[in-house]
Amino acid sequence: MDLKIKGKTVIITGSGNGLGRAIALGLAAEGAKVVVADLKKQDAEKVSAEIKTAGNESLAVCCDATNPDDVEQMVQKTLEAYGDIDILVNNVGGGFDTGFVVKTSIDIWDKTIELNLKSAFLCCRAVAPVMMKNKKGRIINISSVSGRQGEPLLGPYCAAKFGIAGFTQVLAKELARFEITVNAVCPGYVYTPGWEKLAQLLKDAYPSHAAKSLEEIFAERVKSVTPLGRPQTAEEIASLVAYLASEEARSITGQSISIDGGIFMN
Ligand SMILES: NC(=O)c1ccc[n+]([C@@H]2O[C@H](COP(=O)([O-])OP(=O)(O)OC[C@H]3O[C@@H](n4cnc5c(N)ncnc54)[C@H](O)[C@@H]3O)[C@@H](O)[C@H]2O)c1
Repeated sequence: MDLKIKGKTVIITGSGNGLGRAIALGLAAEGAKVVVADLKKQDAEKVSAEIKTAGNESLAVCCDATNPDDVEQMVQKTLEAYGDIDILVNNVGGGFDTGFVVKTSIDIWDKTIELNLKSAFLCCRAVAPVMMKNKKGRIINISSVSGRQGEPLLGPYCAAKFGIAGFTQVLAKELARFEITVNAVCPGYVYTPGWEKLAQLLKDAYPSHAAKSLEEIFAERVKSVTPLGRPQTAEEIASLVAYLASEEARSITGQSISIDGGIFMN
């Protein structure tokens, strides 16, 4: 299937590692011009260099997606380099802690909402006007299975990711007349640097995990909750994002789409 992404300009936040990196490499392999935006400059440059080595176009941008000035600059640099923005992937996100809601600090709550929800708002607010002028565009928000069902010990993260689902629907309705689609992708479990951090938090918090490796904690968790009994790969998530970014997906908007081995079923 020709996804017709060749030559399109795409911004992917948090694409120096993990899922964002895989999405960047996946869309670049389809011929997109990929802006690799990340808080960590070196990681953004490394992924961007990988894309260029493979013969595709890329720009590395150091950007804190929770900072409005950084986000505006990311958009300006993209427009200076490529003159347009066709696709935005709001991938930045993650959790800072695990614990019962009654023990959650205001700082952890605020930081989690800011990283997962405010980042998507800021990037959409900055990029959507460019797409509206062009009367075309694709916005894909990376949510989570935690944006589809509540999960004990992940209060702020679940609240933020459920927020992404509502925000996605609002924006999908507001931007539909501009032929811009807005969707959310909800992965289950992928072993990334972000998940490794979570495994370390679980190991530190629960004596039953003390003797286990981080990979074992991840594998146990996956097995216990996933009907298909296995984790997802970052490449599987990238393929779904590529499809949603394509011409083929023009009639899909406002959806939260699960890719989680069957954990959440509608
Ligand atoms: N890994 C999973 O199993 C999983 C499952 C469901 C959903 N998700 C979601 O997928 C997305 C990516 O997760 P991941 O596991 O690949 O994360 P990760 O922590 O492995 O990578 C995140 C990347 O974002 C960058 N980053 C962090 N804060 C930033 C900021 N403020 N501005 C710009 N860049 C920033 C980091 O430097 C890093 O390169 C997140 O939204 C996460 O909630 C992940």
